[in-house]
Amino acid sequence: MNILIIGSGGREHTFAYKIAQSERCDKLFVAPGNAGTAAIATNLPLSVTDFEGIKECVLQNNIEMVVVGPEDPLVHGIANYFSEDKDLKNVMLIGPSKRGALLEGSKERAKEFMMQHNIPTAAYASFTKESLAAGKQFLETLQPPYVLKADGLAAGKGVLILKNLEEAKRELENMVAHSKFGEASTTVVIEEFLDGIELSVFVLTDGKNYKILPTAKDYKRIGEGDTGLNTGGMGAISPVPFADTVLMKKIEERIVKPSVNGLQKENIDYKGFLFIGLIKVGDEPYVIEYNVRMGDPETEVVLPRIKSDLVTLFEATFQQRLDEVDLEIDARAATTVMLVSGGYPEAYEKGKEIKGISEIRDSIVFHAGTTLKEGVLVTHGGRVLAVTSLDADYKLALKKSYLNIAKLSFDRMYYRTDIGFDLA
Ligand code: AMP
Ligand code: GLY
Repeated sequence: MNILIIGSGGREHTFAYKIAQSERCDKLFVAPGNAGTAAIATNLPLSVTDFEGIKECVLQNNIEMVVVGPEDPLVHGIANYFSEDKDLKNVMLIGPSKRGALLEGSKERAKEFMMQHNIPTAAYASFTKESLAAGKQFLETLQPPYVLKADGLAAGKGVLILKNLEEAKRELENMVAHSKFGEASTTVVIEEFLDGIELSVFVLTDGKNYKILPTAKDYKRIGEGDTGLNTGGMGAISPVPFADTVLMKKIEERIVKPSVNGLQKENIDYKGFLFIGLIKVGDEPYVIEYNVRMGDPETEVVLPRIKSDLVTLFEATFQQRLDEVDLEIDARAATTVMLVSGGYPEAYEKGKEIKGISEIRDSIVFHAGTTLKEGVLVTHGGRVLAVTSLDADYKLALKKSYLNIAKLSFDRMYYRTDIGFDLA
């Protein structure tokens, strides 16, 4: 069948890499894609939220399956657009409906969902401009640090963790009264701070059945030792070494099952990925957030460990018979290290020539922000390449990634040399 992947990052290149290996895939398209996807698929110059343009391409190219990478089109209702259109309703779109996507689109909604279905999470309350005074009083009842979250999508920047009470009050006011994060911070969720170690669990669900995919841990800060500004993610490891069977059992029973059952009880059409951000406090897992898509760069370590045919898994997801297919996982560990443009996550330059990719031997290079300029491979984003390796354990895999990174270069290339530092 012909398949379309929507998005343009390392996550989408990884989807393309896996799907291109499937015997069931004939023609593969990526919209808009990058230089990496262009080498294994046909890129279509479309915006991820141009639903009409996407429809036209789907019909023109007899596309039977659409895999949605980023959250934006999901929160804007691409799944509903397909299911409500007579020409598109049989196209197997992998991604939740708009109501499902609200679990990522609204932090307040996600917290209400967790409360409703008894899913362990930090205590919280939410406030708006009208309840600012109550919000400040609520902060006074909490112990530092204070966690403030813009309710809506804020490109991963909407969470503030502050040590000082006065600063927390000021930032709350900036968010609700002075639109610090635009519309996204009209409502702010204030949360109890959870002190522990983070991990992510990825679930593929058809709204009724589910498969738990490999766990992963990403490294979000720009600087070594998890310091400095937040980024989209500077590297990842799968599996998470401390996610043993005891912890995974708790996660499945207390979090995954009630989440999928909750979707079903609320009649939410959900055929896609649920990415559960967790924090382990002592020995107990708590949910920090839901995302309604795969993570990036977590995808670059999760998908290479899936041995089962991805197209078959997606088809079963769309047809709500995920219970009938097997999920086979590679026992090896996977690591990825992101190479980013100097300056990222603040201002950076694009268009720098990337050298050395043809020298890479036993790692996979996923393109995140790249393009071809007059036939030359150049940087085209903050996050540029993800170098993934597989080996018996994460330390061996990391060694391979770093040895290969030494062969790659572009002007002002930067990467963290300490991915996995907290696991040793
Ligand atoms: P989020 O966008 O909700 O994933 O939050 C961004 C980051 O803030 C998370 O990855 C955590 O490191 C941190 N965080 C969020 N909520 C909490 C919390 N309640 N306690 C401690 N850290 C948190
Ligand atoms: N790496 C974090 C995310 O994709 O949200």
